[in-house]
Amino acid sequence: MNEKEFQKDLIQWFEKEMRDLPWRKNQDPYRVWVSEIMLQQTRVDTVIPYYNRFMEQFPTIEALAFAPEEKVLKAWEGLGYYSRARNLQSAVREVHEQYGGQVPKDPKEISALKGVGPYTAGAILSIAYDIPEPAVDGNVMRVLSRILSLWDDIAKPSSRKIFEEAVRHLINKENPSYFNQAMMELGALICTPTSPSCLLCPVQEHCLAFSEGIQRDLPVKTKK
Ligand code: ADE
Repeated sequence: MNEKEFQKDLIQWFEKEMRDLPWRKNQDPYRVWVSEIMLQQTRVDTVIPYYNRFMEQFPTIEALAFAPEEKVLKAWEGLGYYSRARNLQSAVREVHEQYGGQVPKDPKEISALKGVGPYTAGAILSIAYDIPEPAVDGNVMRVLSRILSLWDDIAKPSSRKIFEEAVRHLINKENPSYFNQAMMELGALICTPTSPSCLLCPVQEHCLAFSEGIQRDLPVKTKK
């Protein structure tokens, strides 16, 4: 694998093909945070109108920190998994009180916030702050398993670390924000679960699974 060429091909494709999504308007860490929480268990198309309404009602950390909980839950109605909304508001209140309203840039501090697991922490740090941290969810594991021909079972919690280490090695240090978003976008648009569009893939020439014709056998995913 030529990492530099891989990064260049991936990021050039993303710059050309990225979807115009509302959380991509700027790099405000609060906006990125809300989007990542909503996207955890909910599809992009469903999230968009909720996200836009939520941002109109609670445009800043302070607006959300001082809002009555019932208003926040009302805005979440229909998205489900209400603990996400409760945790988000409680974490935002902590950022207001402990960090002067600035989302922390330290991986340990941000990971200690309620509802912010390793994926969400990495997504916020990389997308908003351009800090080269991995943001590995199921989609990114699928993409990586194919590109690098990794046969670790993505259903096993212990596999995450292996994929995170692979991203630490592969990530573009000049543009971690686009790198991680491009990996997500590739998983959403090209490197899909059942019939990946390898002929349209911007990183086909770097993909070990494609070169061996085994892209349909990866990722390994046992039933939980
Ligand atoms: N899924 C999770 N995070 C995402 C993002 N930032 N953009 C698009 N889809 C996503």
